Amino acid sequence: MSILTVDDIHTYYGQSHVLHGVSLDVAEGESVALLGRNGAGKTTTLRSIIGMTPPREGRIEFKGERVDGMEPYQIARRGIGLVPEERRVFPELSVDDNIEVVMAKGGEWDRERVYDVFPALREHRTQLAGQLSGGQQQMLTIARALVTDPDLLLLDEPSEGLAPNIVADLKSLLEDVLDTGITVLLTEQNTEFAFDLAERAYILSKGEVTWEGDVETLQESEDVISKYLSVAAVGVDD
Ligand SMILES: Nc1ncnc2c1ncn2[C@@H]1O[C@H](COP(=O)(O)OP(=O)(O)OP(=O)(O)O)[C@@H](O)[C@H]1O
Ligand SMILES: [Mg+2]
Repeated sequence: MSILTVDDIHTYYGQSHVLHGVSLDVAEGESVALLGRNGAGKTTTLRSIIGMTPPREGRIEFKGERVDGMEPYQIARRGIGLVPEERRVFPELSVDDNIEVVMAKGGEWDRERVYDVFPALREHRTQLAGQLSGGQQQMLTIARALVTDPDLLLLDEPSEGLAPNIVADLKSLLEDVLDTGITVLLTEQNTEFAFDLAERAYILSKGEVTWEGDVETLQESEDVISKYLSVAAVGVDD
């Protein structure tokens, strides 16, 4: 059953028409990737879902309820957590307190459970978040989203800007998170990272969905990858 349905949305920044009728579905418990090059509209799609840049046309349903037109906090409260592209932690608060201030009481995820998944955070729990490495800050941002107990977790380019060994660590930690059965929609430019984490994918190009299907199929579709995803083909996708 679909937990999220995005139906033919059109989203603008002022006069600039960025999403041209994007549709996608995420089923409960599924892990779905939203792929595409720089400026394809991945972040704008997530911002549309969470209500930060509401679509002007189309509809978005979450758990059977229409949410487009609601305020971001109302949408978040219904069970959508967003980990934005730019990591957002309170640098002057400890790791413990960064989690404490957003934690939903009585939820499935509490602080000790996220520390079980991210042991590096437990090790640094009394340290100020501003002193953590980039990879640890990314883990803390994800931990902060998890303790709000979302039914759907949106991750915007979680591997961006991290060193390759940290990306590998993050991937295996996210695999543990996915094993809990949480529903995830993640954007990535790092296709290998997304291929390992997602079951299904949508490819965006210039604000339109140009491909959708199983990740297994996509991995074998060299033509699709080189047309819409690989860096070597930038600028020749139409
Ligand atoms: N605040 C904004 N105001 C105006 N245009 C914007 C704004 N944010 C993004 N855009 C434009 O919207 C289009 C889609 O951008 P978006 O950030 O959604 O792409 P993306 O797929 O997330 O790219 P990236 O991989 O670089 O994060 C781009 O042409 C971008 O320049
Ligand atoms: Mg983006």
